[in-house]
Amino acid sequence: MKIKNSNTDLTKLNWDEFYSLPLNQKLGYFDKEGRMFDCLFSQQLSSNNLKTLFDLANKIRKVAKEKGGLDWLQTLLSHKRAMLYFVQPSTRTFVSFQSACYILGMKVSEIRSTSTSSELKGESPEDTIRTFSSYADLIIMRHFEEGMAEKSAWMLNKTKRPISIINGGSGKDQHPTQALLDLYTLNLSFQDKGGIDNKTIVMVGDLKRGRTVRSLSYLLENYKNVKIIFVAPDYLKIGNDVKEFLKRKKIPFKESNDLVKCLPEADAVYVTRIQDEYDINNESKNIDYSKFHLKKEHLRKMKKSAIIMHPLPRRQELDVEIDKDPRAKYWRQERNGMWIRTALIAYLFRIENEINRY
Ligand code: NCD
Repeated sequence: MKIKNSNTDLTKLNWDEFYSLPLNQKLGYFDKEGRMFDCLFSQQLSSNNLKTLFDLANKIRKVAKEKGGLDWLQTLLSHKRAMLYFVQPSTRTFVSFQSACYILGMKVSEIRSTSTSSELKGESPEDTIRTFSSYADLIIMRHFEEGMAEKSAWMLNKTKRPISIINGGSGKDQHPTQALLDLYTLNLSFQDKGGIDNKTIVMVGDLKRGRTVRSLSYLLENYKNVKIIFVAPDYLKIGNDVKEFLKRKKIPFKESNDLVKCLPEADAVYVTRIQDEYDINNESKNIDYSKFHLKKEHLRKMKKSAIIMHPLPRRQELDVEIDKDPRAKYWRQERNGMWIRTALIAYLFRIENEINRY
């Protein structure tokens, strides 16, 4: 495999050189024959493949409604095996990917902690991943270390048996399939309201360490005239890398620390929890997060047509009383995740035409 950008042969770089390259110079390394092979970053998803994936997810959920349809879907990848390597806590991402694999008939193995793998005996994560590739046809991974999914894909793409890697969350950095299901949910919610174009999205909470908001912000470049309002405590503001990206792409955004004031403008409010697992010195304890909670009494400030989203899990930042409001979409959002992840796996195994012909 020879992939060249203007002046570098990417296959000749060592990991540190490769990792330090700007993303737009190396995305091609994770494609094969002109299509995405590893799904690692939101920036890999163009409006074209978003549309393909949304349509495919819609088709799959329709086919799966009937027993005959689901039985047929389960034959499509019954000869393939997936490895779920989730060494950071996960409920939804893990179970929805596992369910997605089952819908397509894949056989699934799992490792959910480095304490039960040979990493405890001193094996490197790289050798662990290489080992998975001896047994599986797909690795879906969540890792606490930023860059580990990319490094795994970089390494496997150099071997004689490269298999696709899907990033199910890479530390504080990215969570592209969450962004995908978030967009799929926005798209379904706004399908009779002109789609995602021209909408204002308020993202509130721990925007500094929340990988879901980071990945979703990147994906919004695929829509016209979308405006983002980032609402966060000073210490947890969105990173400069995301802001630079949005400026470059001319996506308007503003920052605020007053949630209630921003609510009337919102077409979607995306609430997130404080990511205190990344604290170094218990710093979250000193932050007054209560101003960034969405409470029942706030709902009357919001448009009737607006929607409320949350990647979940939630704590106090999203009042359970809100669940009854028709604008609450997070439970649906969670289920949408299973269908769009099924579509993504089908796309990586190139069976979308077969499914669309059904
Ligand atoms: C998110 C994550 O893991 O980043 N959860 C998820 O995948 N739905 C959000 C979070 O943990 O706060």
